[in-house]
Amino acid sequence: MQKDTLKKAKRVYIPPKNFLKITNNPLPFFMKKLKENEGFIDIGLALTHAYITNRPNIIRHVLQKNNKNYRKTDVVREVLAKDVGKGLLTSEGDYWLQQRRAIQPGFHRKRLEAISKIMIKEIRSFLDEEFDKYADTEEVIDISKEMMHLAFKIVSKALFSNGPKEEDLELIDKTVSSAQEYIVMTLRRPYLKPWYWLNGRSAEHEALKNASDKVIFDAIDERIETKERHDDLLDMLLETRYEETGEGMSRQQIKDEALILYVAGHETTALAMTWMWYLLSTHKDIEDKLLQSVEEVLGKDNPPSFADTRNLTYAMQVIEETMRLYPPAWMIDRHSLEEDEVDGFVIEKDKDILLSIYGVHHHPDYWEEPEKFDPERFTPENKKKQEPYTYLPFGGGPRLCIGNNFALMEMQFILAEMVRRYRFELVPNQKIEMNPLITLRPRYGLKVKVKRR
Ligand code: HEM
Repeated sequence: MQKDTLKKAKRVYIPPKNFLKITNNPLPFFMKKLKENEGFIDIGLALTHAYITNRPNIIRHVLQKNNKNYRKTDVVREVLAKDVGKGLLTSEGDYWLQQRRAIQPGFHRKRLEAISKIMIKEIRSFLDEEFDKYADTEEVIDISKEMMHLAFKIVSKALFSNGPKEEDLELIDKTVSSAQEYIVMTLRRPYLKPWYWLNGRSAEHEALKNASDKVIFDAIDERIETKERHDDLLDMLLETRYEETGEGMSRQQIKDEALILYVAGHETTALAMTWMWYLLSTHKDIEDKLLQSVEEVLGKDNPPSFADTRNLTYAMQVIEETMRLYPPAWMIDRHSLEEDEVDGFVIEKDKDILLSIYGVHHHPDYWEEPEKFDPERFTPENKKKQEPYTYLPFGGGPRLCIGNNFALMEMQFILAEMVRRYRFELVPNQKIEMNPLITLRPRYGLKVKVKRR
């Protein structure tokens, strides 16, 4: 297309009088402006600006068709990489490709089958030891915290099935949460960064990180020494070989990748599960249908197995529809390396572009009654009708989530196990709001009363 006929995205500013309200939850503002401006806007943010889009064609172009022209933004490259280290999620270019090729086989079917056993065991013991007590006393709990705890335990065991000890795991949990808080703080209030250095917050984080690195290094060393096999992700990381050299990863690389799997692999799943309980507790008919469909496959109490994941089809539909309405990764960020054009629009060199997964999942051109919770959208026949890049909770293109099948299996298992044991009643009159930061969290948690079925 002729350069002078290319359109520019409309520049939009956040009105100062609503600044706080909008930055607290920018989703409604973004959705309105995207609707008014052909799904592509250029939004002023403090001293800089960034493109935002919910046009599937642009999203596909950036993530897949011309992905070589885009890298992640500095938020990921600098803040996240500095805080948690260089791993699949945070690296770029040749190093990323080499790591991705090496690690990918660790998430293939055969491996997932082995991991499925670890998962089931962990879910059952969590429910027996912790949740059953809540149900016996009909306790009110914040289910978002519990799901976070469970997903953390699952990814820990999937990584290191024979350890580390409970108190060492807590250390890793603290490090990962502290890194996340730090990132959130840096994004929301960048001007406070020097203050955090002065008051020792950064030193504290550094100390935590060193301690949890040591826990992971110890687990790696022990495994190397004992030569035991456990069929977990650590075995997979230790066994990877680079195609070109036939060599394995260094201790440092294994540690970095393990920590990244912790970071990338639990909060997203926990959030999807949290929003799922919210939707199920407000849609009784769907909850009933789900329970019936799970019992048809598994009976009243049999644990699910890897083979059952194929048959737990309605559970999968509920999971997929939940992530349409509440995509845990609600936005994917990229930065353009060279000028580009797509769909008649220009994207200049060196621009940040935010791909609104939430925006495309709620787009009325692609979803009828987009705000309605309706798992029927994900029956095999209906899925065939979906246009490309209108549903992408795990991203797309070469950087598609490596843990997508791991997460889907995990969520099917948690759902199948929990829906047969408990019912959750939403505590009335609580405020339930989305808090879109790096992930889509419930701002005030989600309080429910646990009842036994
Ligand atoms: C519901 C759960 C999950 C969601 C919604 C999710 C979403 C995503 C998304 C959207 C990306 C792409 C980011 C981008 O392109 O910038 C991604 C990447 C990634 N995810 Fe997940 N994820 C989930 C679970 C997991 C799990 C369980 C693991 C590991 C056990 C994992 C590990 C990763 C890694 C390592 C990457 C980086 C891949 C790469 O760049 O090569 N994720 N995830």
